[in-house]
Amino acid sequence: MTLVASISSSKGGSGKSTTSINLGVALANLGRDVTVIDSNLSTPNLSMYLGAPSLPVTLHHVLSGNAKIADATYTHDSGAKIVPGSLSMRNFEKLKLEDLRHHLHEVKSDVVILDGAAGIDKEAQDSIRLAHQILVVTNPELPAVADALKTVRIAQKFDVPVRGVVLTRAGHRLDLKVKNVETILEHPVIGVIPEDVFIKKALIQREPVVHAFPNAPASRAYSALGKFLMGHEFNPEQIGKFFRFMKWSFGVK
Ligand SMILES: Nc1ncnc2c1ncn2[C@@H]1O[C@H](COP(=O)(O)OP(=O)(O)OP(=O)(O)O)[C@@H](O)[C@H]1O
Ligand SMILES: [Mg+2]
Repeated sequence: MTLVASISSSKGGSGKSTTSINLGVALANLGRDVTVIDSNLSTPNLSMYLGAPSLPVTLHHVLSGNAKIADATYTHDSGAKIVPGSLSMRNFEKLKLEDLRHHLHEVKSDVVILDGAAGIDKEAQDSIRLAHQILVVTNPELPAVADALKTVRIAQKFDVPVRGVVLTRAGHRLDLKVKNVETILEHPVIGVIPEDVFIKKALIQREPVVHAFPNAPASRAYSALGKFLMGHEFNPEQIGKFFRFMKWSFGVK
């Protein structure tokens, strides 16, 4: 069965797209068949992260009934598959992300990652509702975490499990502590992605950082997150070990 996971956060610019694409590549590197879908219909930008801003067939064509999802699926060099959105503003108001439900069964990947929209409106909610579980992305700062709590509440309202929290752009000494984020969001932090200049370098190369600079700090962190998510599926005992290691790394007792 395909696992559908939404990468969600009501705060704009918190790192959802960066996490979606790099977690996708990390899972592909671990041998998983992964499809990353840009479920941000109003302001899609996943294709920009991959240097292919204008693609002939997109999710918008699929949702308007003019293409099959397979026709809008492109394979990156890493092996991760991508379903981009259209950068054109034309007709996007008429499309409904919830209609993606009728196409998801045609995706035969092990994992589908939905790159969610910012905010708490219907588009952001639909990405959560389409998923079996969500990963909440937030920066380790109070306003961002407060916004992330709204995302947690939306998931709870729709009975979609929150798999965990991913802290992005982390590493400043004044950041909120992992344990404080876990207390506020009532869910474990399962990934800590450091602020990393290699993310920008990769962006300039139009490549996911995990692919372009596999040894960069952010790449290692995304790979660790991918391993953790896979390990959890197959060996629940690994979670405890991983958390002990991560909490030790970040000085949490
Ligand atoms: N770990 C990191 N280190 C440095 N820069 C980062 C990191 N993660 C993300 N960024 C940068 O932060 C910006 C926002 O990231 P991204 O587009 O992934 O956020 P988003 O949540 O998808 O935004 P939106 O809500 O607009 O969809 C980008 O310029 C990205 O390169
Ligand atoms: Mg985004």
